[in-house]
Amino acid sequence: MSTERSPDEIKREIARRRTFAIISHPDAGKTTLTEKLLLYGGAVREAGAVRAQKADRHATSDWLELEKQRGISVSSSVLHFEFEGHRVNILDTPGHRDFSEDTYRTLMAADSAVMLIDAARGVEPQTRKLCEVCRLRKIPIFTFVNKMDRHGRDPLEIMDEIEEVLGMDVVPANWPVGAGSDFRGIYDRLERRLVTFSGGDHGTHRVDEQIIEGEPGDEVVRAAMGPFADDVCEGLELLEGAGAELDPELVASGSQTPMFFGSALTNFGVHPFLQRYLEMAPGPVPRLSEGEGIDPTERPFSAFVFKIQANMDPDHRDRVAFVRICSGRFQKGVQTQHVRTGKPIRLANSTLLMGKDRAEIEEAFAGDVVGLFDPGVFRIGDTLADEKDILYAGIPIFAPESYMRVEVAGVEKRKSLEKGIEQLVHEGVVQLFSDPEGGSASWILGAMGPLQFDVMKHRLKTEYGVDLKLSNLPYTLARWPQAGFDPEDFRYSERIRVVKDRDGNWALLAQSPWDFDRILERNEALELADTPDPSLFESAS
Ligand code: G4P
Repeated sequence: MSTERSPDEIKREIARRRTFAIISHPDAGKTTLTEKLLLYGGAVREAGAVRAQKADRHATSDWLELEKQRGISVSSSVLHFEFEGHRVNILDTPGHRDFSEDTYRTLMAADSAVMLIDAARGVEPQTRKLCEVCRLRKIPIFTFVNKMDRHGRDPLEIMDEIEEVLGMDVVPANWPVGAGSDFRGIYDRLERRLVTFSGGDHGTHRVDEQIIEGEPGDEVVRAAMGPFADDVCEGLELLEGAGAELDPELVASGSQTPMFFGSALTNFGVHPFLQRYLEMAPGPVPRLSEGEGIDPTERPFSAFVFKIQANMDPDHRDRVAFVRICSGRFQKGVQTQHVRTGKPIRLANSTLLMGKDRAEIEEAFAGDVVGLFDPGVFRIGDTLADEKDILYAGIPIFAPESYMRVEVAGVEKRKSLEKGIEQLVHEGVVQLFSDPEGGSASWILGAMGPLQFDVMKHRLKTEYGVDLKLSNLPYTLARWPQAGFDPEDFRYSERIRVVKDRDGNWALLAQSPWDFDRILERNEALELADTPDPSLFESAS
């Protein structure tokens, strides 16, 4: 049994938690940075083998790969380690072929985000999409410009691009000294000191840091910057002149992003980033329950389901609901309420998924993520809470980018097909749309990427014994009308398809954003949103 905890202890445990997701485009270095954070957090003693061994990186999730190759305790959904008094939880945001709605849903469980940018490539499409969700949630976003050991773009150019494309003010917390093979350190604008790096055995071990306190113009600082002194001083003066100062309130609301420079490959800059990030990033913040912010430390256990994953491990044909704890302390075996169904539920089979072992955990605190075995009772967005008055706002729907029509003609097991689709749609594997009067004969499935349709087919076959036949549809995006909408206006439209989503909301499917621009130009009263209920993004802070 877990030990008793005093209210003060529980508060302290919650306050020291930092739960974040890394948002990036494939190949920006998320796996590498994650591994280096683990290295500095003491979760691995040596890093570097993962990249070299990653033979078929597109076939599996990066983290499963990491787990397999390092033999360390990595959950498929959350990694955690201790660092300088903080408990750090990194939530996996699958990319590559795994990119799906789950990637977005995970962002709903994070308290902040680290945006990883490849110094040579700048802002890339997947980063932009994930960043947009963070902006809607108004969570703090910290930028790490990676691959400084290669010649990339000018730091000022990257700043401008982020400001322009993502609409955030960028304030460098540090500034690089040298670039490419000459990248040797950073000037820490907040602590007013130079940090230079050496050693690290090409990134397998922690690097040595030499710290020189002082202003950039100080002789000793300039001397340590060597041939880069003039450039660095000029860059820093420009920033100072432009009044680029960090404002904690603007950072907290995500409208200003602190920017850091480094190289995940060589470890240069990883440690200063982690330290500063953990100082500045928020602990668990209040979440909205029916308009009221639920204080993580003042209320007993409450949590919401943000992801449901089935058959993660071929040896266990089961389903796991990932739950983000929002307040209080979670204890194994304790009874709580499943708020949607109004039924009591005992969290006996709760587990923190620690690698394949699925270690049972005794306790967890607000900020943590736990996996619960799901006998089919959970839906995405469900609230679990000791107190019945808590009902978290739920997880928004994100507009799919691929659409397929379900072919029902000639399907033998029509009932099984309908049941299977209904269950998998509840789990959030894909989204279901239909023509207003068409019934199941007009079912349209929507997903972020084609892989989800493969998952759907596979699961319908193995779990329901049905062969799912799908045919391509040309649509690439959906919008949900919020005002000024009349379905009759689109009766003869060739470009826009009017459908209803699973909850009966009107939705419009189109092939390109341009189609929506055109109808908005023609109909001034029409308002479209990229999710049925934009208020679900609202946070309490
Ligand atoms: P991802 O998870 O975001 O997809 O990126 P990942 O860490 O897999 O890194 C993608 C590629 O970028 C890898 O190279 C990796 O070594 C490299 N990389 C990551 N961080 C840095 C960095 O700071 N500097 C440099 N120069 N490269 C970096 P690869 O050649 O595709 O794979 P590998 O042969 O190194 O395994």
